Amino acid sequence: MSLSAHSVSQPLGVHAEHIAFIWHAMLGACGLMYALLLGFLVMTLLRQHRSAPAGVELEKRIERTLILWVGLIVVGLCGLTLASFLTDRALVRAASEPQIALRVIGHQWWWQVEYVDADNSQNVRTANEIHLPVGAQVHIALSSDDVIHSFWVPNLNGKRDLIPGRSTEIRLQPLTTGRFRGFCAEFCGVQHAYMQFEVIVESAQEFAAWKARQLAGAVTPTDPLRQAGRDVFERAACPLCHAIAGTNAAASTGPDLSHFASRRLLAAGALTNTRDHLRAWLQNPQRVKPGNHMPVVDLPGRDMTALVAYLGSLQ
Ligand code: CUA
Repeated sequence: MSLSAHSVSQPLGVHAEHIAFIWHAMLGACGLMYALLLGFLVMTLLRQHRSAPAGVELEKRIERTLILWVGLIVVGLCGLTLASFLTDRALVRAASEPQIALRVIGHQWWWQVEYVDADNSQNVRTANEIHLPVGAQVHIALSSDDVIHSFWVPNLNGKRDLIPGRSTEIRLQPLTTGRFRGFCAEFCGVQHAYMQFEVIVESAQEFAAWKARQLAGAVTPTDPLRQAGRDVFERAACPLCHAIAGTNAAASTGPDLSHFASRRLLAAGALTNTRDHLRAWLQNPQRVKPGNHMPVVDLPGRDMTALVAYLGSLQ
C-alpha cells in the first residue's frame, strides 16, 4: 500500500471533494476577475495617447463602466456566497449517520486513538494510526489533553481544532483504499512537526481482520529473550506511562503499546518503526525528538536488547 500524497487538490473522501469544489470555484471566479482587471488595465495603458472623449460623453462612459464592474463584482460575490453555503450544507449532510465512532485525543506530541463501540468489549486503543474501512461514515470526537492541536488529513477533509476542555467533531468518509498522511495543523510546541499520524483505509474484510487482531490482546512471549524483555518492561519505568494488555502496565500518559509492532511509524512520525530505530529511540528519546515527554531510561545493553525484541514482537 503506497503512501498517498497529502494534497487538498487530490480529494479521496466525500468531504474533501466538497472542499476541492469550493476551492476550484473560488480560484476560477477570482482568477477570472483578476484577468479581466489586468486586461482592462493593459488596454487603458495602450490607449492613453489616443484622443479621449470629454465632457458629457466621458461622464456617460465612466458611469457605464462603473455599473458594469459593480454588477460583475456583486454577481461574482453572490455566486461565491451561494457556492460556499451549498458546500457547507453538503458537508453537514455528508456522513451524517456514523458507522464508525472514534475518539481522538491530542497530546504533546502524539495522537491517542480509541474506537468507541456500544459494546465495551469491542473498544480498541491505538496511537498515531487510524484504520478505516473504505466508504464508511466515520465520526471522530476530538479533544486535547494539553494545548490546542488541529487534526488534518488533507486528502479526506479540512482541519478541525482539538481544544482543551471542549469536544469538537470531524467526519470522514474515505472513497478509496490507501494510506493517507495526517498532521497536526496548529503550532503546539517544539515537536509540532512530529505530531503526525496515518489513516489506513482498507477493505471491510481487511479492517475486520485488523480490528480482530487488536482485540485479541498482546502477544505473550514464548522465547527466553522476549520473556526477559517483558520483565524489563514491567520492572523499568515503562508502566508508569504506557499500557500493554495482559501486563501490569495500564497507564495512558503515553501511547498504548499492546500492538506497537503493527504500526508503521514510531514517535508520531519521527521514525519508521524498525528495530534499529526502536533501539535508538529507547536509548535516547531526547536525541531523536528533543523536548518530548519520554524520559531516558538507562538500561544495560542486554536488557535493552531484550526490551527491543519484546516490543518488536507486539504485532
Ligand atoms: Cu499538535 Cu501541532
